[in-house]
Parts: sequence; structure tokens; C-alpha cells
Amino acid sequence: MERTFVAVKPDGVQRQLVGEILWRFESKGFKLVGLKLIHPSRELAENHYDVHRERPFFGSLVEFITSGPVVAMVWEGYGVVASARKMIGATNPLTSEPGTIRGDFGVNIGRNLIHGSDAVETAQKEIALWFKDDELVSWEPTIKPWLYE
Ligand code: TYD
Repeated sequence: MERTFVAVKPDGVQRQLVGEILWRFESKGFKLVGLKLIHPSRELAENHYDVHRERPFFGSLVEFITSGPVVAMVWEGYGVVASARKMIGATNPLTSEPGTIRGDFGVNIGRNLIHGSDAVETAQKEIALWFKDDELVSWEPTIKPWLYE
């Protein structure tokens, strides 16, 4: 089953949106298989945003992500990578659709609350970067929900 990496950034934690965000993924029907509060090191942040190393916003992005605790999570489910991106919304919260997390709660591109992996391969890399194997929990619900046939 597909997995994706999602992180509530320091602004989302400080604006007390962690519960709201967890709720959205839970109620959509995705399964939580990893969750931790972590104050990322510069090394972790730079690795995570390595593809943006040459971009002008890289420095401020790393400063921001390392400025406070982040809630790192792994969600599992059918099509979860693309679906999480839809639920999160466009990068710039001013243009994110209402109903998306960024569209409902954000204004500024540099304070867009949440990260979600952009592809299955990226998700695998990001999960491995943020979580040790034994921090991920594979589990099956005792009662089968009416989500999948
Ligand atoms: P990106 O990977 O393009 O977006 P997304 O988070 O939607 O996958 O960019 C990573 C983060 O960098 C983005 O969430 C916010 C920040 N950023 C800026 O601060 N300014 C910018 O112009 C861009 C493109 C991104």
C-alpha cells in the first residue's frame, strides 16, 4: 500500500493546527503509520529541501523549517501521495483552493503550513530521511472500515 510523508511546519504547530490537520487525513480514510514531534536540525532540513539548494528562497526556507518543532507523519492508503497533495493545496496559499489546508489557513508562500511528498519516489526518500524503520508501525484495523472493497 502506498505511503507518503507529510509534515506540519513550525507555523502550523505554533498556530495550533496539528489536530485539524491530523483530523483531515484521518477522516479522509488514510491510515497513520508514523508520527513524531521533531525540532529539525539544519542538516535534516537541508537534505529534505536539497532539490531547492540553488533557489533564492533556500536559506530562508531552511531557517524557517529549523525555527521550531515540526510534526512529521507518514500516511498510508490507496493513492495517498497524490491525494495528500490535493488536500494540502497549491504551494502559494493565496492561490490554493478553499477546502485545501493551505487554502483554508494560509496566506504567504513562505508560511504555507504543511509539506507533502510530490511523488511516490520522493515519498520513499523523505520517509527514510525523517523516520527510522522501527518508528513506522504497520497495523490493520480490528474492524474493517467501509473504505475499500
Ligand atoms: P516546492 O517544493 O516548490 O512546493 P511544495 O511545498 O508545494 O511542494 O517548495 C518547497 C517550499 O519552499 C514551499 O512549500 C514554500 C517554499 N517556497 C518559497 O518560500 N518561495 C517560493 O517561491 C517557492 C516556489 C517555494
